[in-house]
Amino acid sequence: MRKKLLSEGSKEFKYEIREIVKKANQLKALGLAIHWENIGDPIEKKCQVPAWIKDIMADLVQQNKSYGYCPSKGILATREFLCKRNNALGGAQITPDDILFFNGMGDGISTTYQLLDVTSRVIGPSPAYSTHSSAEAAHANADPITYRLDPENHWYPDLEELENKVKYNPSIVGILIINPDNPTGMVYPLEHLKKMIEIAKEYKVFVIADEIYNKVVYNGARSYSLAEYIGDAPGIAMKGLSKELPWPGSRCGWMEYYNRDKDQEFAAFCSALDNAKMVEVCSTTLPQLALPLILGDSRYEAHRANLNEQIGKRSTLINKILGEVAELKFNPTYGAFYNSIIFKDGVLNNKQTLPIENPKMKALVEEWCKDVSPDYRFVYYLLGSTGICVVPISSFCSELLGFRITLLEEDEKELNNVFTTLRDAIKAYVKSA
Ligand SMILES: Cc1ncc(COP(=O)(O)O)c(C=O)c1O
Repeated sequence: MRKKLLSEGSKEFKYEIREIVKKANQLKALGLAIHWENIGDPIEKKCQVPAWIKDIMADLVQQNKSYGYCPSKGILATREFLCKRNNALGGAQITPDDILFFNGMGDGISTTYQLLDVTSRVIGPSPAYSTHSSAEAAHANADPITYRLDPENHWYPDLEELENKVKYNPSIVGILIINPDNPTGMVYPLEHLKKMIEIAKEYKVFVIADEIYNKVVYNGARSYSLAEYIGDAPGIAMKGLSKELPWPGSRCGWMEYYNRDKDQEFAAFCSALDNAKMVEVCSTTLPQLALPLILGDSRYEAHRANLNEQIGKRSTLINKILGEVAELKFNPTYGAFYNSIIFKDGVLNNKQTLPIENPKMKALVEEWCKDVSPDYRFVYYLLGSTGICVVPISSFCSELLGFRITLLEEDEKELNNVFTTLRDAIKAYVKSA
């Protein structure tokens, strides 16, 4: 090429949640059975779509309109439905014009950061969900700017650090809140959320609340929506069907803009988001047609409540199995379907191993472990020795060492087997050197 092709920022695009799959598949090709604990896809983990939802879809598939483009902002009746749902919360009120559909929130996230001025930054949580941190860092061609989620305090945001960073870094224009959180599975108390809004208002920055897991809460937790606590600050809520239905393959998510009238710069940013989608034409039509029919169906609440109860039971079982391991910092989860489990300081080193009988698999794992952070080393040995595929926490923009699991395994026997094997592997690994 006569000139370089890649932008500097492109090196920020990393997604270990899927990257680890390449390694697991190499071991699979050598005959290892893999237990996929890396990705948050309930359908992949055998979550069954109820017959009444399939009937709605079957009916839509018969209709010609399902095959056309739709309006750039999204189907009006669907936006009206979502508007009512938001406004019924009694907080910030919106009109259908304040909603914009995307091809999954991944699409919405990358568009958001692309449109920001290169010198304007959004501070987000650490550990960080990589789709946000990578896209934000790539737009700025710099490392992500983060505030700490504290494993010693239920993974709640360190508000003092957040305030200091926002105060002393004038390039920060926005605060990202992910609630319930991926990868920690934590749901934030209202007081914390209100304090974050106070910080946003004090320093005149906007708020992005990723609420893709808003309906995925269990074991007594309640998740507050941005609309309920934003007051008159400008902000965007990001929502979608992937986790809430769940229907990750729908590639259907939407944004809700709050208080556009309160700040011109923010209003212009929302219009630019609308225009970017217009240039692209529109988002997927079929899931938008299905959305009010499914979420508005009298059976939906019970369906979601049942799924949440099952996740809650799995969370409790995993607490029992892993909560007792002395070398771990373990927090019970209340939302989304992940847990980030951290090794206590000084527990990991670069000599620990697990037995791997197959010499080819052993050689591969040894090769992968050259020059990696100690939690990657644990993850690779765990994979080679047991076939359990988890994601290292240091890949979530964090200095902590640990791993992320999912709470999605539907088969109780398999769930028990995977987590007792994991517990025993941790105990053996930390003692090995
Ligand atoms: C916090 C968070 N936001 C956004 C997304 C992307 O969702 P979508 O499937 O709508 O692209 C995910 C997916 O795992 C997520 O965990």
